[in-house]
Amino acid sequence: MFAVPVNTVAAQEKSALRHPARVAVAYAASRDRWRHLLRYDADERYAVLIDRTDTDEIWLMSWLPGQGAPRHDHGDTSGAFTVVHGELTEVVLRRNAVQDAPPEINVLRSGQTRAFGPGYAHQVSNKGVDPAVSIHVYRYGGRTIRPYPADAAAARADGAAG
Ligand SMILES: [Fe+2]
Repeated sequence: MFAVPVNTVAAQEKSALRHPARVAVAYAASRDRWRHLLRYDADERYAVLIDRTDTDEIWLMSWLPGQGAPRHDHGDTSGAFTVVHGELTEVVLRRNAVQDAPPEINVLRSGQTRAFGPGYAHQVSNKGVDPAVSIHVYRYGGRTIRPYPADAAAARADGAAG
């Protein structure tokens, strides 16, 4: 018998150090945590809070074909989202994008994840033919959603993008 050195035992993981993408993927895999909350709303994209921790809000969303979230940013919040079922199309919005540069468009399928930091802006929609389901993690600030761009002058300058 001998004592086990402390540095050979894995330290307990601190949830605040776990990347939001890992949190989203873990919730996506734990369907029993949210299966009973899943609904589809014929009028708009459906969203429900699954869980809240000291640092994170975890939301479940469902998207019928054609439904989407308008252009928005998440303020100072960072986070991630992962697609559980179906397909989501994300258009990344950059205030300082090179003029006439093509927009960054990401088509996310089941099992794919996007992470974002403060100030990130995008537009997300279901352009597929099947309903989509996704898990969203918002860290430090909760589910902050602001219209993008926030000010009218920027909206006029950006109007051509629709
Ligand atoms: Fe968003």
